[in-house]
Amino acid sequence: MAPSLLAADFSRLEEQVAGVEAAGAEVLHLDVMDGHFVPNISFGIPVIASLRKRSRMFFDAHLMIVDPMRYAEPFVKAGCDHLTFHIETVEAPDRVIEHFRSLGVSVGVSLNPTTPVESIEAIVDNVDMVLVMSVWPGFGGQTFIAEVLPKVEILRERLASHQRLEIDGGIDVDTVAEAARAGADVLVAGSAVFGKPDPVGAMKELHRLAQEAVKAGGGRVEPHAAKPSGD
Ligand code: DX5
Ligand code: ZN
Repeated sequence: MAPSLLAADFSRLEEQVAGVEAAGAEVLHLDVMDGHFVPNISFGIPVIASLRKRSRMFFDAHLMIVDPMRYAEPFVKAGCDHLTFHIETVEAPDRVIEHFRSLGVSVGVSLNPTTPVESIEAIVDNVDMVLVMSVWPGFGGQTFIAEVLPKVEILRERLASHQRLEIDGGIDVDTVAEAARAGADVLVAGSAVFGKPDPVGAMKELHRLAQEAVKAGGGRVEPHAAKPSGD
């Protein structure tokens, strides 16, 4: 589970982050919006830099901005461990990946709900993570778009076992199981964690449901799984 800060109470950020961190969350999802790529503005560099002093979590920045190249360095200096850019925003994704790597962070590429897997074919082997949007980016609290699940399944088979597959938007107690079963292994949840009176309890419940779904069948397809002997 990667709790998304977007749904936190911004007047109590330290406390909210400390709560999920103490409960075992390892990834904090940071939604950066510029009011251009998406019709909303969230938070940016100073907020992340302040939180960095208070948290040891893995800072996963989701850059919903038109010029990720321009702002990558200040986000890394602010303390991000990982940067995800949107494939829709760049003309030379290979150069973006190279630049992010030169800054010492891991790299993700994100696809909007209707952006096809083919759009990242040329660079997919070079990223650490693919982020499938299961809502249109810009706002928390939207309804899960189940039509993206076949894309998650295709990507799970396409990705190597070391590459993460993240899903973001509308993940809650009703949708987390199908997202995990389709093969997503980083599940972002904003409203369904910080939007609840007991964020830690809510996060643990989502984690339990996801694990149960994977155990119950389907689950992650191992692309390099050993073939039966005698094959
Ligand atoms: C939407 C963001 C999401 C958002 C998810 O643009 O990328 O990370 O926080 O919020 P929920 O979980 O409420 O759909
Ligand atoms: Zn996000």
